[in-house]
Amino acid sequence: MATKRVGNLPADYANNGFYGQDILSVNQFDKGKLDYIFRVAHEMRVLVERFGSADLLQGKILANLFYEPSTRTSSSFMASMLRLGGQVIPINNVQYSSVTKGESLPDTIRTLESYADVIVLRHPEVGAAATAARYAQKPLINAGDGVGEHPTQALLDLFTIVEDLGKVDTLKIAMVGDLKYGRTVHSLTKLLVNYDVEFVFVSPDILAMPDDVLEVVRERGHKFRVTQDVHEVIGDVDVLYVTRVQKERFSDMAQYDRVRDQYVVDEALMAKAKREMIVMHPLPRVNEISYAVDEDPRAAYFRQMRNGMYIRMALLAAVLGKA
Ligand code: NCD
Repeated sequence: MATKRVGNLPADYANNGFYGQDILSVNQFDKGKLDYIFRVAHEMRVLVERFGSADLLQGKILANLFYEPSTRTSSSFMASMLRLGGQVIPINNVQYSSVTKGESLPDTIRTLESYADVIVLRHPEVGAAATAARYAQKPLINAGDGVGEHPTQALLDLFTIVEDLGKVDTLKIAMVGDLKYGRTVHSLTKLLVNYDVEFVFVSPDILAMPDDVLEVVRERGHKFRVTQDVHEVIGDVDVLYVTRVQKERFSDMAQYDRVRDQYVVDEALMAKAKREMIVMHPLPRVNEISYAVDEDPRAAYFRQMRNGMYIRMALLAAVLGKA
């Protein structure tokens, strides 16, 4: 990938492999790059806990462009930029932008990059981030492209596994719920194939993991199992990654109603799980995890949220050549 323009810094300013790069897919990450980002994210945690903020990205501006709803991804990117001393142009309500007047994605991107140094984009269409990045002269970060990918979420998910369980190799990881439309499980699976892990995919038939993702798992020689019954596997897994049924992706609401509450993680299910395991969820949850589980130390979803900010701080610093 060509290195994009990042202010006046020379292109070889930072030799971290991220400087001036777009972040579009987890396919860009090998183990070396993952280690690097996790190391920087760890430093970001220390920085925030000790000082709250720093001036690493002072003078830099992020354009945060969201064509789909978001709470965590959008506000954690904003918080990341602000904590590193940068500024943000937040466009969370595209209905109030010129998009409503019919402006195309490329034109919107060209506009924002005239003002900003880096762009974060969430869009309902698969491949939108890659398209936008082709037009952008500045680095662009994919914050979710429809049912495609959500690379920064997968990075924070993996970082949480490393922080909580101290390793990734030899873990058995179950993904539960909407594996068809859930972009976070697509990205996380494709990241996890870099490690020696076993997968269990738990979903109703109509929400099964897409073949192209299963193909990657097969190709990389991983053991995996497909089932509809979470009770069958709960006692045996180290990570239970729960997802929301993605209502907004269904055209047939009767079909959504049939599968919406198929899996609920409650105290009774947790009683059957290992003592040393974690329950993850990208959030928002609807009914998939009962509130009683929040008190269980194995509930990792609020830690995931917090880790998201450290990972996004690390990514912003890295692509802007300051990590
Ligand atoms: C996820 C997403 O947008 O894909 N949310 C998030 O970014 N944390 C999951 C979801 O919406 O269910």
